Amino acid sequence: MTIPYLSLKAITELHKDELTQAVTNVIDSGWYLQGKANELFEKEYSTYIGTKYCIGCANGLDALILIFRAYKELGLLHDGDEVIVPANTYIASILSVTENNLKAVPVEPRLDTFQIDDSKIEEAITEKTRAILLVHLYGRCSYTEKIAEIAKKHNLLIIEDNAQAQGCTFGAKRTGSLGNAAGHSFYPGKNLGAFGDAGCVTTDNPDIAECVRSLANYGQSKKYVFKFRGRNSRLDETNAAVLSVKLKYLDRENDCRKAIARQYNEKIVNPKIKLPLIDSTDNIFHIYPVLCAQRNKFQKYLADNGIHTMIHYPIAPHQQTCYSDVEWYGKSYPITEKIHREELSLPLNQALKQEEIDYIIDVVNKF
Ligand SMILES: Cc1ncc(COP(=O)(O)O)c(C=O)c1O
Repeated sequence: MTIPYLSLKAITELHKDELTQAVTNVIDSGWYLQGKANELFEKEYSTYIGTKYCIGCANGLDALILIFRAYKELGLLHDGDEVIVPANTYIASILSVTENNLKAVPVEPRLDTFQIDDSKIEEAITEKTRAILLVHLYGRCSYTEKIAEIAKKHNLLIIEDNAQAQGCTFGAKRTGSLGNAAGHSFYPGKNLGAFGDAGCVTTDNPDIAECVRSLANYGQSKKYVFKFRGRNSRLDETNAAVLSVKLKYLDRENDCRKAIARQYNEKIVNPKIKLPLIDSTDNIFHIYPVLCAQRNKFQKYLADNGIHTMIHYPIAPHQQTCYSDVEWYGKSYPITEKIHREELSLPLNQALKQEEIDYIIDVVNKF
């Protein structure tokens, strides 16, 4: 049996007729940017997330960049302000901070949840700290009551990186509505994925919403009147229409992912493999991460048995050459380093068949 890590073809097949119709409707409309499909998706997604505003943009990195940029344009953040980030996040989270001449301050995650360790945030706060960038990494909710208390006590913004957690919840709310603003990615492999790059910003703040919308459209306040030096970062009509179709199935598909994760956690009983924690915190399992001290050998063994896996991620941000000029480059972040050394992501998605799930469990148990 051969099992790809993720077959986007198989994911698309699940709703192919509806998606084809949605794309055809856009083609036939003759309107390809900033039209009805965009307006509809923004409305549907803000309702789904539970925020007043949603602004479509070109990708998840832009969404985060635009949020920080908007806070700067409104005079609420300034060059050199510090933003706390999880040390083990994907590089895009940190890029959104440094792109804006803000200083990223990495904080170690917890090994059992892979999320920022809320007991280590306060010691990283200085008089220059202005925000916490919360990343719901791998699809698990990273927000805690304690983080909310810290943010309130120190007057910090909470910006959510919801690139990996569409549909995840915290109590009655969804990630993407928990802080001051959130960036979302609809990269094709995400739980809610487009046919190409796409993203959006959600927020309840009308000033941030207006500023982000302007910045994403060259900085225009109205046609050919430029208030800001903006960029071109818009969600196209085709992808907006595709996302409207896929949004209808997101909760069902996330439930399917959760059920597969529970099966893995119940049936994988190999002491060499540390499974992700499943507890009362919501997790939509964008990624199913396991830890294995012999990670490379394990990955090769699985590949030899037809099971393709991925590593999220092989090199930690503080070891990336692009940050060789910052003070945290090359410093010691032992938990982050252990995750980057041992993490392996098993196939987990709504297109997996039961016999494939059983086969993965069987092969992992025999390692
Ligand atoms: C945690 C995280 N943040 C931000 C991004 C950036 O999203 P995009 O690829 O849409 O630019 C990603 C991308 O995959 C991500 O995983």
